[in-house]
Amino acid sequence: MRKIKVCIIGCGMIARCAHIPAYISNGHFKVSAVCDAVEKNAKAVCDELKIKKYYTDAAQMLEQEKPEVVSVCVPNMLHKKYVMLALEHGANVLCEKPLAFTLCDAEEMFSTAKRYKRILMACQTLRFLPERLAVKKMVDNDEIGEVYYSELSRIRRRGIPAWGKFHIKEYSGGGALIDIGVHGLDSAIWLMGNPKPVSVSAIMNKVHADEFGSSESSGALKGGVDNSGFNSDEMNVESFAAGNVRFENGSELSFKVAWAANLPEENNIIIAGNKKGVDTENRKVFYGSDNMDKLFIEPNGFEAEPFFGHYCLADKLYKCLIGVETQFVKPEETVNVSSILEAAYLSAAEKREIKIAELRRLP
Ligand SMILES: NC(=O)c1ccc[n+]([C@@H]2O[C@H](COP(=O)([O-])OP(=O)(O)OC[C@H]3O[C@@H](n4cnc5c(N)ncnc54)[C@H](O)[C@@H]3O)[C@@H](O)[C@H]2O)c1
Repeated sequence: MRKIKVCIIGCGMIARCAHIPAYISNGHFKVSAVCDAVEKNAKAVCDELKIKKYYTDAAQMLEQEKPEVVSVCVPNMLHKKYVMLALEHGANVLCEKPLAFTLCDAEEMFSTAKRYKRILMACQTLRFLPERLAVKKMVDNDEIGEVYYSELSRIRRRGIPAWGKFHIKEYSGGGALIDIGVHGLDSAIWLMGNPKPVSVSAIMNKVHADEFGSSESSGALKGGVDNSGFNSDEMNVESFAAGNVRFENGSELSFKVAWAANLPEENNIIIAGNKKGVDTENRKVFYGSDNMDKLFIEPNGFEAEPFFGHYCLADKLYKCLIGVETQFVKPEETVNVSSILEAAYLSAAEKREIKIAELRRLP
């Protein structure tokens, strides 16, 4: 069987623990080479996952390997650079989240993908949580009706990522909202049917990062990362963000997100429709004055894997490449998420509600 040739840019935690294992497990892909600016990171991944070649220069790797698929797994601020480079070299691209954090960057990246007739998909892997897939099925079957309100809460008491450069704005572009909020925003607007955002109002705050939590509480595999180099004095991004998004169809999304906050732990999306409402995390469906059903969950077969969403996404990418399915995380959904991120940061900085239309007028 011919295998689809894949190259990886960035050999850190997510490449090693999620992307490469997912491609290998899928069986339709072959990872021919990896690249990292830090040679020892690239070499370590090759040794551990039995990949034959590594590079320290991405352009050189793309020219020599000519992959059909590239995974972009570098810190956020480098996503656009490597997505564009991979597209220009004719590859389809899976880009780690957030694909972009401005509306114009997201639009430019997707219009480039369209021009080259390639797939560009953001790794919004938490859509594959079985309870979120179950709610999406209800929405698609019109069991929820018109969604007029939703709430996203993703609160970690202490869970600041302490590997990599997540806490440094120059590498990450932002803190909790960009890192974990982007998953929740993506899932929420996907479940709401991707209404068009018109305005965002947000606040952000930062706690001192001395108690940053364990690797697992910040989203890495147990023992999968080295937190020893973390310096809390370098942290210049938010650990907490909260706000509201208004949509063109009159609906609203309320969100609160934290890497660290003196609040109860929460990880939920609540959807209210004019037929039914759902508390996703607690798997409860509400309707009428006192009716409550259990959300019907179907297993997706990958739950045992720590980063199971990446396994599901590799499967979706394969189906899209062979033309039996359309793109699972759609460009227009990711463009909307990027515009919400940009407007939220601007809103917090300028202490006012930001209209999405204003973003197009920014220099
Ligand atoms: N989908 C998810 O659930 C999930 C989870 C964790 C991280 N992520 C995302 O994955 C990305 C990477 O995160 P990570 O945890 O692997 O971080 P990491 O710090 O462990 O790895 C980043 C790697 O990129 C390399 N790198 C830096 N600059 C480079 C350059 N110019 N060229 C090539 N390589 C370069 C670094 O040397 C490092 O090896 C981030 O965008 C993050 O948001 C997604």
